[in-house]
Amino acid sequence: TPTELIRNFSIIAHIDHGKSTLADRLIQATGALTAREMTEQVLDNMDIEKERGITIKAQTVRLSYPAKDGKTYILNLMDTPGHVDFAYEVSRSLAACEGSLLVVDASQGVEAQTLANVYQAIDANHEIVPVLNKIDLPAAEPDRVKQQIEDVIGLDASDAVEISAKTGLNIEAVLEALVTRLPPPVGDDTAPLTALLVDSWYDQYLGVIILVRIKNGRLRKGMRIRMMSSGAVHTVEQVGVFAPKLRPEPDLGPGEIGFITAAIKTVADCNVGDTITDDRHPATEALPGFKPSIPVVWCGLYPVEADDFEKLRESLGRLRLNDASFHYEAETSAALGFGFRCGFLGLLHLEIVQERLSREFDLDLIATAPSVVYRLTKTNGETMDLHNPADMPDGSLIDHIEEPWIKATILVPDDYLGAVLTLCNERRGHQVDLTYVGNRAMAVYRLPLNEVVFDFYDRLKSISRGYASFDYQMDNYLESDLAKISILVNLEPVDALSFIAHKSVAETRGRAICAKLKDLIPKQLFKIAIQAAIGGRVIARETISALSKDVTAKCYGGDISRKRKLLDKQKEGKKRMRQFGKVEIPQSAFLAALKMD
Ligand code: GTP
Repeated sequence: TPTELIRNFSIIAHIDHGKSTLADRLIQATGALTAREMTEQVLDNMDIEKERGITIKAQTVRLSYPAKDGKTYILNLMDTPGHVDFAYEVSRSLAACEGSLLVVDASQGVEAQTLANVYQAIDANHEIVPVLNKIDLPAAEPDRVKQQIEDVIGLDASDAVEISAKTGLNIEAVLEALVTRLPPPVGDDTAPLTALLVDSWYDQYLGVIILVRIKNGRLRKGMRIRMMSSGAVHTVEQVGVFAPKLRPEPDLGPGEIGFITAAIKTVADCNVGDTITDDRHPATEALPGFKPSIPVVWCGLYPVEADDFEKLRESLGRLRLNDASFHYEAETSAALGFGFRCGFLGLLHLEIVQERLSREFDLDLIATAPSVVYRLTKTNGETMDLHNPADMPDGSLIDHIEEPWIKATILVPDDYLGAVLTLCNERRGHQVDLTYVGNRAMAVYRLPLNEVVFDFYDRLKSISRGYASFDYQMDNYLESDLAKISILVNLEPVDALSFIAHKSVAETRGRAICAKLKDLIPKQLFKIAIQAAIGGRVIARETISALSKDVTAKCYGGDISRKRKLLDKQKEGKKRMRQFGKVEIPQSAFLAALKMD
């Protein structure tokens, strides 16, 4: 396909503004799938995505559109995730395209992620077409929202396309706008091959599938390709496009987006952002890559059954094939045995990985408290990055600790502004700016990341009845008065429960965890003390009284099979228990204990 007939675009939007619904409509309208083939939201094809209604992994579809000018265009749609944790995936999808549809819900207006995403698109030099969605809703105010887009983003919204992705109204106009308003890709067919490795994932049957965007040259079946950063050489087995199912093609030319397979077994050879070139006629210069994704939240993952360690290692390797932003390394815990320290883009990312491990790989896991990465300077001048509270050296060896700060943007209706400001202040935030976007307040705050990772987003949603929107970027590291709080059960420290917190909140948090554990740890035949301590100083304490009678007593000794069932059930439950000294702690206590409210 000549480049003049190609348009590569992303859809960017705040969560729930209708990105996936619009994508489905575009697929349907161009007949890439018949209505019958069209299962609900094809682009969100991971189970978890469907259940949670969010887009996690960027997906791609090639559409064929006969435009009003009589020519048939190839439209490559790259879906982008909407959640803050996945801003990195947004940036790499954008790098493969020339333009974006900026979808804004006409009944809601510009939100925090609208801004974050549009700034990324502007950085990627995209041509941006504003699309006002949900104009079927009585509450839609397209004119007000257009004004907002102009005032806040500085984008001309006079010819924004007004649509309803739900009813299908004006979808044709979106397709025309793509063809007439977005620039075609530029590339040289005769130059040596340069293709951007946008993404890669593992397919059970095909092995590693690589999503590529061709810049120059041609990528053919049978070609020997070289990854410019790793130097690895492979023979291309299959070349094709996403139509939206994988469809083989003889080759891909400049401007095209498609996939290749090359019997690649390890994702280590497929660094996202790498340039793929022709091994025989290599390009001299690589394409600009992406800045690598940096995990900002870490936690330990341990198998409930020690025997599952190898299975866990294998599963993490598989996950990593599909998710280059996920990091892991082996670690051991005195309390939990062998496991892995895992790094995530954010808390949602963590939850999703955990859920996939238990669902797809059938693994029972214990997760330790999420931690951010602290920077320690020791009294001897050495520095270290600390992402596991258990590794914190003795207080006397530490000169100072720095913690990561973020810059958060929160948009919220005036009615809830007070509550939001209170929340930010409670979380040690510093206000940077407070302005208005239409009739909504926009608060810009600097906040310590460790005050945000646990439940900030949930709290924000609940105090604003779901109306606040939130986005953040990493800012800098600052020295802070932090301490490690250890949790002791019957005087035994449970390393998996220790956490790092600012001294001003250490006592409150310590007390909260002790109180929670008191409810979460089942009574046993003896009294159990639960304590929180900084160094040797106890800052909170709870006691669990002893259990008085045998559970099986409830069965009145009558029905023996019932009694056996109950004992079996208890045994089953034991598998999810961990032993700390004499005390058994159920796995659910770990996560529950760390959710603050
Ligand atoms: P993420 O994938 O999580 O980023 O969300 P999204 O932006 O893809 O939103 P999605 O397409 O899932 O739509 C969110 C909700 O809005 C769904 O319940 C849709 O049915 C609804 N919706 C989408 N478009 C329209 C529209 O034009 N009108 C109305 N009334 N509802 C719509």
